[in-house]
Amino acid sequence: MKRLAGKTALITGAARGIGLAFAQAYVAEGARVAIADIDIARAKDAASQIGDAAMAVEMDVTRQPSIDAAVAQTAAQFGPIDILINNAAIFTAAPITEITRADYGRVFDINVSGTLFTMQAVARHMIEHGIRGRIINMASQAGRRGEPLVGVYCASKAAVISLTQSAGLNLIAHGIHVNAIAPGVVDGEHWDGVDAFFARYEGKPPGQKKREVAATVPYGRMGRAEDLTGMAVFLASDEAKYIVAQTYNVDGGNWMS
Ligand SMILES: NC(=O)c1ccc[n+]([C@@H]2O[C@H](COP(=O)([O-])OP(=O)(O)OC[C@H]3O[C@@H](n4cnc5c(N)ncnc54)[C@H](O)[C@@H]3O)[C@@H](O)[C@H]2O)c1
Repeated sequence: MKRLAGKTALITGAARGIGLAFAQAYVAEGARVAIADIDIARAKDAASQIGDAAMAVEMDVTRQPSIDAAVAQTAAQFGPIDILINNAAIFTAAPITEITRADYGRVFDINVSGTLFTMQAVARHMIEHGIRGRIINMASQAGRRGEPLVGVYCASKAAVISLTQSAGLNLIAHGIHVNAIAPGVVDGEHWDGVDAFFARYEGKPPGQKKREVAATVPYGRMGRAEDLTGMAVFLASDEAKYIVAQTYNVDGGNWMS
């Protein structure tokens, strides 16, 4: 028996990277998945490659009408939503003396407000439909510590961990489980961008920062998106029914080291 058979999932930021790997893994486990992303062209490509169990939804997590429309569109096509993964996020880096209000606002709008208000919309929807659903928020090892050039992103992911704790304790009264995953360093387009920031601020040649972080991961390499799918399936499955308000590191031992 597939572990997510008959379930409907909405995954934000799923047109590429980790979110796309989650969508593929959920469909393989029997779910129908809305690939919700601000990049609708890429979301459509992804959905058409996955097949009939996936649909593309245009969604900007910073805009409430867009959040509400994505929930409605997903439910209209695939039925009420059982699982939400709040995965959309952006990265930024700058020394504290160079952080701008505009950059801070953009990151918190997407990573924190986007997570909170998508979680709120889907929780209301689940309560309305009597669904004892699952919400998984994407945190980061960055949310568990400070990093000299990454203050804003670290703070945004610390807020995601905190919101997961409060929402987890609040929504379990409705049978809705809220938990989070904290990846370490996962190779892909996100980390191409991180590498470019470090190239700029630390004067490193392109690719150098990636090689450095890969060398320090206890497992022996950077993560791959597919390294995270097992935890995402588990947290959405019946096997996780007694898990509430937790954030799990899936990072090849990086945080512990
Ligand atoms: N890659 C890593 O090393 C790493 C490490 C720790 C945590 N994470 C977290 O995991 C999650 C996925 O990371 P990834 O590496 O796949 O990132 P990614 O940058 O490859 O993908 C993010 C997706 O979010 C979408 N997006 C951006 N703004 C949006 C908006 N306003 N509304 C809707 N969609 C929007 C983008 O179009 C993109 O498809 C993120 O929350 C990230 O912070 C990643």
